[in-house]
Amino acid sequence: MERFLNVALPKGRLGEKIYDLFERAGYGCPSIKEESRRLVFENGERGVRYFWVKPSDVAIYVERGAADVGVAGKDILLEYRPDVYELADLKMGKCRMAVAAPKGFRDDGSTTLRVATKFSRIAKDFYSSRGRDIDVIHLNGSIEIAPILGLSDVIVDIVETGTTLRENDLEVVEEILPISARLISNKASFRFMTDKIGALTNALKDLTEGEK
Ligand code: PRP
Repeated sequence: MERFLNVALPKGRLGEKIYDLFERAGYGCPSIKEESRRLVFENGERGVRYFWVKPSDVAIYVERGAADVGVAGKDILLEYRPDVYELADLKMGKCRMAVAAPKGFRDDGSTTLRVATKFSRIAKDFYSSRGRDIDVIHLNGSIEIAPILGLSDVIVDIVETGTTLRENDLEVVEEILPISARLISNKASFRFMTDKIGALTNALKDLTEGEK
């Protein structure tokens, strides 16, 4: 019997939109739409099984082969550099990684810049490429509060609509890079399920290709 294709999806609003894309691509799993707290759903006929996992954990499931493919943000891929293949840009969950600071802040370069972030590696890479000394303060959430309380000078974080920054009197100082959701694959799975994963990738690309 053919093996199931195990797919890790990020739990939440973006994950639901991504599931809809998979469904439109021909990989539907009707039971997933039922109100339930289950985390695993399968469509035996289609040979596909979905897992809802924490968005930042998708790459771990895929890297270790618990899932054959998954959808993870480019931010997570850059920050954790999991050993996976990146197969497609799904052009969803678009946002920007940016440096933000209290309105009017100017970095005069005179002291080590204190940077609060969940994305320590991205922040370090960005500032080291400019030769700027920083002190990274790694936080796990509510990053915007750090400069308000004087814990940091700036933050490196995700900006989507800009509402969180605005409502906390912060503004974007510099954009680091655009972010979007990527289809990723376990390396071994890609070798022994090349046709199946290739067909999925092409079907998803066909649906997203025209989008910017
Ligand atoms: C992200 C990010 C900002 C917010 C930006 O947080 O850390 O706080 O979204 O979105 P906006 O520009 O549309 O206001 P997320 O919702 O992912 O939660 P988290 O802080 O727990 O990571």
